[in-house]
Amino acid sequence: MPSRLDGIRLVDELELENQRVFIRVDFNVPLDKSTGEITDDERIRAALRTIQHVVDRGAKVILASHLGRPDGERVAGLSLEPVGARLAEISGWEVHLPDDCLGDAAKKVISDQRPGQVCLLENLRFHPGEEANDDEFARDLADLCDIYIGEAFGAAHRAHASVHALPKMMRERAIGYLMRDEIEALSKIINEPAHPFVAVLGGSKVKDKIGIIETLIDRCDALCIGGAMANTLLAARGADMKASKIESDWLAGSRTLLEKAEKKGVDVLLPVDVRSADDLDATEAVVSSVGALGAGQMALDIGPETVERFATRLAAAKMIFWNGPMGLFENEPFAGGTLGVAKAIVDSPAFSVLGGGDSAAAVHRFGSDLAKGFDFISTGGGAALELIEGKPLPGIESLRISQ
Ligand code: 3PG
Repeated sequence: MPSRLDGIRLVDELELENQRVFIRVDFNVPLDKSTGEITDDERIRAALRTIQHVVDRGAKVILASHLGRPDGERVAGLSLEPVGARLAEISGWEVHLPDDCLGDAAKKVISDQRPGQVCLLENLRFHPGEEANDDEFARDLADLCDIYIGEAFGAAHRAHASVHALPKMMRERAIGYLMRDEIEALSKIINEPAHPFVAVLGGSKVKDKIGIIETLIDRCDALCIGGAMANTLLAARGADMKASKIESDWLAGSRTLLEKAEKKGVDVLLPVDVRSADDLDATEAVVSSVGALGAGQMALDIGPETVERFATRLAAAKMIFWNGPMGLFENEPFAGGTLGVAKAIVDSPAFSVLGGGDSAAAVHRFGSDLAKGFDFISTGGGAALELIEGKPLPGIESLRISQ
């Protein structure tokens, strides 16, 4: 199978001195809903190695990212200003932030830049041309720079102007270290599966994960499923999930998936017990077996016996892929399942990859020691899943120079 990296250059293969180097990063960090503060800066930290390399080579660094979904309009709460401040704080660089990614403000900052200096353009999605993959918008960005570096793995599944149209216009283009590491670690799951290969999936909907479930059924030996998506699968197996969230239009589809897994000899481990409450904001959880949920109760996390069963499978695994939290981990009484699974993965000798999104946010929240126990934590949510599903990602394909 050809490598996803074939025909793609790495940043250290380019002559960077005195060049204006555009680095498309994914600084789409989670923000606290009420204070607007950054709650997890891992995506900023993950790009530092590449930025430092470009700084050290004496280039003028132009960083660009989206933040949130402002739908082509300027939204004050989605300015990259706090991200620039955090970048300056953790790197020690002076970070210049023009108030628009195009136009006179950006041109002035870039023309005044000296080699080794860093600027961060304002949110690309303040312009409708970004999500529209608009050539004119991309051309305006191309005019600002000499070299393009693709480092926004988290946005690589989007055919947006700064990750798709723009790099194709740049003769000098390459990927950064993070993008390289992401592609290598996630490709290992597809190309070099070690058995037993155990996948852990969570999150809210079967519907959103159908592609990855089908891919994993073809590749893994056991699938441990938690999160609200497990409610739908349990209901499909006939359990009365009382007031739990289930996708009633996905019961038949879930049965088909379970049958497919059985035919392939893949063990599907669903929760045998849950932590439940009658309110999402509950301050206490009730533990009950799946068949004994009380009236009005919603399953909001997997229970301790389920964690133990999952842990037993994970301990014997040689490769583990995990995506999606096991419950409502943001609320402490329902964090135990996600934390228990994270600990079990870290304690297992298996090569472990965590596929971004909410589960990565959960692990970072549980502390850096736990995060260090994973062999690789992807910064991409949807992008990581699409890569494992074998889909071509626009933000990777556009960087290929030759096949
Ligand atoms: C992500 O957070 O998954 C990426 O930054 C892409 O963001 P999007 O889902 O808003 O396109």
